Amino acid sequence: MIQCPRGTRDFLPDEMERRRYYEGKLRSVALRFGFRETETPIFEDAELFILRSGPNVLNELYAFKDKGDRDLALRPEMTAPAIRMFVNSMGNEPKPIKIFYFGQCFRYERPQGGRYREFFQFGAELIGSATPDTDAEAIALAAAMIEALGLKNYKIRIGHIGVLRQKLADAGVPNEKTAEVLQKLDKKLYDEARPMMEDLNVDQDVMGEIFELTETVGGTDIVDKVPGEAGKYLRSLIAILSAMGVSDVEIDLGVVRGLDYYTGMVFEVEAPALGAEKQICGGGSYTLSELFGGEKVFSTGFAIGFDRILLAMEKEGITYEQTGIDAYVVPVSEDVRIKATEITAMLRKAGISCDMDIMGRKMAKALKYASSARAKFAVIVGKNELEGDSVTLRDMGSGDQETVLISELVSAIQG
Ligand code: HAM
Repeated sequence: MIQCPRGTRDFLPDEMERRRYYEGKLRSVALRFGFRETETPIFEDAELFILRSGPNVLNELYAFKDKGDRDLALRPEMTAPAIRMFVNSMGNEPKPIKIFYFGQCFRYERPQGGRYREFFQFGAELIGSATPDTDAEAIALAAAMIEALGLKNYKIRIGHIGVLRQKLADAGVPNEKTAEVLQKLDKKLYDEARPMMEDLNVDQDVMGEIFELTETVGGTDIVDKVPGEAGKYLRSLIAILSAMGVSDVEIDLGVVRGLDYYTGMVFEVEAPALGAEKQICGGGSYTLSELFGGEKVFSTGFAIGFDRILLAMEKEGITYEQTGIDAYVVPVSEDVRIKATEITAMLRKAGISCDMDIMGRKMAKALKYASSARAKFAVIVGKNELEGDSVTLRDMGSGDQETVLISELVSAIQG
């Protein structure tokens, strides 16, 4: 038997209905915040992702050559595509440009719980603005989305990559080595960061200060400890967030983020119940447009890991009630089948979700099928009732039955 490829999943109808429901909730929050939806291709020039992250990213990409010998890659995320789209065709639009997107991304990773090779992101970008208000808007949108899904147990951690970048630069770490060191600091792998910095002649005391900065975590009052411009920036960001009703945040200067295009504020949201793969959202401010042939434009964005947030909701016992169909039409005998078909068509035209037995099943089996389709009503079409232009309407919940005129069937079902 052929299975779906490793790290990918099929979504059966119940699961798909649940996913669409919550995706719709996220979409409506984004619209409420004044963001507009976009869509970009699932594959792009591989160059787009290499320019952003260097050739090492190829190990993580589903990259391939097409028949025209073009180097392409399935998108591992959607920020680079969004900024490419901006550079290509949105450069003249009034700033800030506020867009959101939902779709699948592909990363060649080792699959485990909450980590897939094909996964879905719901993301948003504010392009063309670099104020604390911009960053606050992005964080507030992420928080409102998570809240709309009903998740309770999560933590928003906000940092500022500028602090560590400045400290590393002051310590003499050259620009091209910064990303490598930051990656180690991100994972708190001090034993690996230390020899790297020793090779770069970083002073032991300064190294200690760097590690201490990475460990600076606490409530919003901790911003007073953050030095320089970044400290001022974070204080202002926190004040705006609080005015927006988002005050349950943590400051964590150790938030470094895996992708290396961030320049200022960075943030992550984690759901501790998920264990190892607990990060359900990540983002920050960055510049990418200049890499793709445009002017340098500051942006802020984030992406929610849709699969992970659904897992976190499951862990919290948030259940989704399947809607089912409104009515299931059962012809009692072959000679009323055409009439039953007409009734089905009439109900569908009236906007009632409706299905009909097409396998000529006996009543008991047809009703069983109606239950499994979660039908609210069964419309039983029998010869005797038809003589009075009526059918039997059975409430599938209570089992109550009544005779209803066909002309009144729509309103009887709509209640
Ligand atoms: P990211 O942190 O790489 O950021 O991914 C965002 C979210 O996608 C993660 O927090 C996680 O929940 C989810 N995710 C990542 N990899 C996987 C995977 N293999 N399986 C399941 N879920 C996964 C970005 O992608 C940036 N583009 C976010 C951003 C937007 N920054 C600025 N604008």
